[in-house]
Amino acid sequence: MSDARFPDGFVWGAATAAYQVEGAVDADGRGQSIWDTFCRVPGAIAGGDTGDVACDHYHRYAEDLGLLADLGLGAYRFSIAWPRVQPDGSGAINQKGLDHYRRVVDECLARNVVPYVTLYHWDLPQALQDKGGWPARDTAYRFADYAAVVHDALGDVVKQWITLNEPKVSSHAGYGSGIHAPGIKDQVLRDRAVHHLLLAHGLGLEVLRGGRHAAGQQIGLTLDVSPVAPASDSQADVDAALRVDVDSHRLFLDPVLRGVYPVLLDAVESGDLALISAPIDFLGINYYRRILVQAAPTGDQQAETVLPEGVPVTSVNWPVQPDGLREVLVELKTAYDLPPIYITENGAAYDDVQAEDGRVDDPLRVDYLHGHLAALRTAIAAGVDVRGYFVWTLLDNFEWAEGYAKRFGIVHVEFASQARTPKTSAGWLGRVARANALPS
Ligand code: NOJ
Repeated sequence: MSDARFPDGFVWGAATAAYQVEGAVDADGRGQSIWDTFCRVPGAIAGGDTGDVACDHYHRYAEDLGLLADLGLGAYRFSIAWPRVQPDGSGAINQKGLDHYRRVVDECLARNVVPYVTLYHWDLPQALQDKGGWPARDTAYRFADYAAVVHDALGDVVKQWITLNEPKVSSHAGYGSGIHAPGIKDQVLRDRAVHHLLLAHGLGLEVLRGGRHAAGQQIGLTLDVSPVAPASDSQADVDAALRVDVDSHRLFLDPVLRGVYPVLLDAVESGDLALISAPIDFLGINYYRRILVQAAPTGDQQAETVLPEGVPVTSVNWPVQPDGLREVLVELKTAYDLPPIYITENGAAYDDVQAEDGRVDDPLRVDYLHGHLAALRTAIAAGVDVRGYFVWTLLDNFEWAEGYAKRFGIVHVEFASQARTPKTSAGWLGRVARANALPS
């Protein structure tokens, strides 16, 4: 295999998440999610933006899948909105919600696009938050019920499943720093959320393994990882970096891949870790950046993350350091007995502008993708078993607390008209996918 080529059968795709793209928040019996509520909190979201309309992907999914397929991408990772399927998070099922996702899957299959379905990408039904949310153990059982319903309805046509997307962000941003829904700042609740999210993964995995469509399916979990390094040799920085690494990565990787937590968590009950560490068929990795840590007196992780000097940053101020992707994959392979890996997200936000002739030229994103794919290729050559790559994201969309101002898409969206324009990076990535190789 030449340096530029990816392994035969390598999967090339694009990813989205329901609340970030769908809009149509009142359509067809959808219930409220914690993000609907959070977007109404004054000051919570930049510009006062909400996901009410987003990219209107709920109605435009066919057009969007047409774009994806025409580019030459063969896979679509999307998430199912729990409040569409079970408006109250438990009990009654909303058939119209399930019917919608069957149409999305059918559209994928008609275009030879393989669906990768994420069951939970942060949009918890508000009714479950009202009963305690992720800090409540019961939420994990409700997730397993919901997973069973979706699997039963779609498992004949969906074979690739991701239980949770980035549980660390759900727990740490949702219940720790409070910058995401539901906006709670409480370390005790945060730690309970960590465990119950992982328990939800374990229970969901068990349900999918035992479902009537279990044959031939592959089930994984997506975690966000970054190489973490101290900003200096000082003991304080070294200690702080270790703390961040444990708190952001090992807190999730160790229970899933080794069956133990690196710290004591009071919510753990007997049998939980066996469920959480049951074998997965793949691990989804979301990679964006390295993390450099300088100890802050408060021990606040956000405050402790500093930027390296002289390194370019994206429009969300994340340093562009592609080799971090190779490094973190090789580190993971060394530390754990890893299942096959998919890069379930990688991408960059830039202040893209549409020229008068309509084109959106995004050379910085092309460089970002090129650099990261070259690093990925190197990791594969070093023996890391990576099966596919999903760019984040197909469409400019609702970037959570940052609203619509931060554009991660390979397709530009003019939100007022909902017009889609593939950026230069979209064509570039499509050519890479078709060639299954980087340009030399
Ligand atoms: C990871 C999340 O899964 C996704 O929802 C988010 O938009 C990207 N990171 C970029 O921040």
